[in-house]
Amino acid sequence: MALRTLDTLGSLAGKRVIVRADLNVPLKDGVITDDGRVRATLPTLNTLINAGARVVVCSHLGRPDGAPDPKYSLEPVAQRLSELLGKPVAFARDTVGESAHEAVAALEDGDVAVIENLRFHSGETAKDDAERRAFAEQLATLGDVLVSDGFGVVHRKQASVYDLAQLLPSAAGTLIEKELEVLDRLTESPQRPYTVVLGGSKVSDKLGVIEHLLPRVDRLLIGGGMMFTFLAAEGNKVGSSLLEQDQIETVKGYIATAKERGVDLVLPVDAVVAASFAADAEHVVAPATALEDTPFGASGLGLDIGPQTAEQFASVVRGSTTVFWNGPMGVFEMPAFAAGTRAVAEALTEVDGLSVVGGGDSAAAVRQLGFADDRFGHISTGGGASLEFLEGKKLPGLEVLGWQQ
Ligand code: 3PG
Repeated sequence: MALRTLDTLGSLAGKRVIVRADLNVPLKDGVITDDGRVRATLPTLNTLINAGARVVVCSHLGRPDGAPDPKYSLEPVAQRLSELLGKPVAFARDTVGESAHEAVAALEDGDVAVIENLRFHSGETAKDDAERRAFAEQLATLGDVLVSDGFGVVHRKQASVYDLAQLLPSAAGTLIEKELEVLDRLTESPQRPYTVVLGGSKVSDKLGVIEHLLPRVDRLLIGGGMMFTFLAAEGNKVGSSLLEQDQIETVKGYIATAKERGVDLVLPVDAVVAASFAADAEHVVAPATALEDTPFGASGLGLDIGPQTAEQFASVVRGSTTVFWNGPMGVFEMPAFAAGTRAVAEALTEVDGLSVVGGGDSAAAVRQLGFADDRFGHISTGGGASLEFLEGKKLPGLEVLGWQQ
């Protein structure tokens, strides 16, 4: 069965359409620092508005504990959505309570309302099927159909993503369609050379994807915090840098598999080592084989790939025809440790072929470093979701829409 798309829902004029979006944006002191996910929702919302639907937008934000927490309110997101749509957007102060029902009842054709953070209700993320289902049944009373468009959350078996799609006529929105089109190109027949750049802090989060990608890619570049587990697996001392000791044996296995398969597994040859984890920390560049031979000794922390590595990674990326990148190369939020991430991002913009930035942190990084979205082939709105897709995992939020990988 193929993915059910918007056209399968028939005429939506006058219908109450619930849109499950992923509006999980980074906030600092109540201000959105990257509105990419809000903007990514606009094409589907505009299509529905123009079709005369009564649009009820729902999403999670952060990971509140199944109870209201003002810090995670979707209100600033609803305001931003209103600015971007250029029209008023009503905001309900609960998920399935009086306020939500009132907001929905007040909608005219083409109007939009946002209901409060779904994770303020414990049913949304409940592991217990019956509890999740019960919440989905309450959500279902707010709409006639469901348009599922939160690509970033399709790997979660949660009430609004999975159960609700079984209770109402449901289909994918245009964002999910677009994401799948691009990610499918990466898994089906990538044009070669195909390079994957992985960064971020935890090797254990990326184990599945590394294993799955090794037989498929030509080059795998490893940066970010997880590079230290790879460097340690090669017998290097890494000072006080991030290290997942319990993953060293697995990583040794990857290094051996890469050799057997002729995959170029490229590890950093140098790193920026700092005296402490602070934006103004004293720092020096050290070779990967001598990370403790700095003035900071064994207490030094690697916080970015070094300049020689950045140059090498950039050149591999530029020479590739297909590139997927997930995870920053260093602590890009601090200018002193952003150069590696910037160099990789810059190189991605120069790829003659398909360049894909996968997910939350990397997407936020490229925007924070001032790169315009259209300089990349595609910026995925899903971090975990795009990785699990590339791992070949079955994603509940897609399967329920008819998609089969
Ligand atoms: C994300 O940021 O990757 C998605 O919004 C999913 O969020 P979650 O990891 O909290 O489920």
